[in-house]
Amino acid sequence: MPKKAEDKKTKEETEDKQEEKPKKRIKTPELLRGFRDLLPEEQPYWDFLRSTVRGIADSYSFQRLVTPVIEDKDLFIRTVGKQTDIVEKEMYQFETPGGEKVALRPEMTASFARAYINHGMLDRPQPVKLWDMGPLFRHDRPQAGRYRQFNQFNFEVFGSEEPIIDAQLMVLLHSIFKELGLDVVMQVNSIGTPQTRQEYKVELVAYYRSNRARICDECKRRLQKNPLRLLDCKEEGCQEVRAEAPMIVDWLDEDSKNHFMQVLEFLDEIEVPYVLNPHLVRGLDYYNRTVFEVYLAKEDNGRSQSALGGGGRYDGLIELLGGREGTPGCGFAVGMERVVAALREQEVSIPVRRPDIFFAQLGDAARRRGLKIFEDFRQAGIHVSEAFGKGALKSQLDLANKLEVAYTIILGQKEVLDDTIIIRDMDSGSQEIIDAKKVVEILKKKLAETGDKPIMPPLDTETDLS
Ligand code: HAM
Repeated sequence: MPKKAEDKKTKEETEDKQEEKPKKRIKTPELLRGFRDLLPEEQPYWDFLRSTVRGIADSYSFQRLVTPVIEDKDLFIRTVGKQTDIVEKEMYQFETPGGEKVALRPEMTASFARAYINHGMLDRPQPVKLWDMGPLFRHDRPQAGRYRQFNQFNFEVFGSEEPIIDAQLMVLLHSIFKELGLDVVMQVNSIGTPQTRQEYKVELVAYYRSNRARICDECKRRLQKNPLRLLDCKEEGCQEVRAEAPMIVDWLDEDSKNHFMQVLEFLDEIEVPYVLNPHLVRGLDYYNRTVFEVYLAKEDNGRSQSALGGGGRYDGLIELLGGREGTPGCGFAVGMERVVAALREQEVSIPVRRPDIFFAQLGDAARRRGLKIFEDFRQAGIHVSEAFGKGALKSQLDLANKLEVAYTIILGQKEVLDDTIIIRDMDSGSQEIIDAKKVVEILKKKLAETGDKPIMPPLDTETDLS
């Protein structure tokens, strides 16, 4: 064989061999542990939750404040507390290329307080009522209902120490759950002032020291670092010890006691379901006086329950951040993933955004015209679904049936030429041919007559990163 031909053959053989080689498997990147994709199927729950929260925020005259997800890490160390789990173990922190030491926000209250001071909100009529919802980050141990990125809706009131504010926040919180169709109960306590808390801590530590042999290793650590968190431990042995522990309400000063009594009176008046929990202390350092958490009233599948949300008063926070001395504050936050999970578990029926009509087309000319018709409907506020990717009329009508639309409009070659369009009533199967120019107008009328209007409130199109 001539050399050239031989070379060619060898080359072909090599190429063949290469083709035969099993394809190298390309590894698809995985989600980071503790992070989630919120899939389209879940979105109706999120939309329902967001629009409910937004509606209640409006009706209680709260204004939205959106703060960045990255802040100077010192903001959280100073407010949430150096010795807390959130700061000590869970904060995502890093140095920027410019050398700033920053953190992904683990909560919103500190950012709200910073913004209140930065923007001179003290000069606005008090109290200033603010809310937001969005993502937070905590490098916690992932488990059901506990993620490393999660969302909260968060409400804060700055500038009033009146007990009615604490009560109103709990009423508002309760109203959100009522509108969502979830039965909840509030757990309430008062943790007094930093001074009385200090005195209580001494007593608590002494009590736990005398029971050191009965508590878990983590609690032995808490005894040194963050004694109030001893009361939060879920270990059986520790809970037995807690049952006999001194209670913080017995250490309250007169003013805090009166304040708390008034909060409870307001709650009784408005019939918000609550129970007193003398062991409730919360895991962030900035609280004083009223603290509360909200739980599902029903046990969820017998699992040990975690709070849906929590909050309380923080009268020293603004001052701690260099704001005017004695500016009080109170607020709460709720974990939105936990609420969505509860809505799903309890099979709460939620409004689903359905299209009003379906647009079916046959052939290229109809498809081209379809783009324009689709736009005309959209501008008229009629929600149209289509399947431009599908050819056969039957599969398009099947889809229209699945979507439970009242009408399908059908456009084929003939209709394009005649400038007409077919309207099919999906219930009766009857069809009529109409002038294409009048289709939007006619369907608007038909939909208004049957009352078949969108039942889902408008979608939240704001910058929710969830
Ligand atoms: P928090 O108790 O740390 O309070 O969080 C409030 C809620 O956020 C929790 O009850 C829970 O539903 C949800 N949450 C917390 N961590 C996670 C997680 N890793 N995964 C999923 N959900 C979670 C605060 O954040 C305070 N800033 C509340 C507040 C506002 N206090 C006064 N104003």
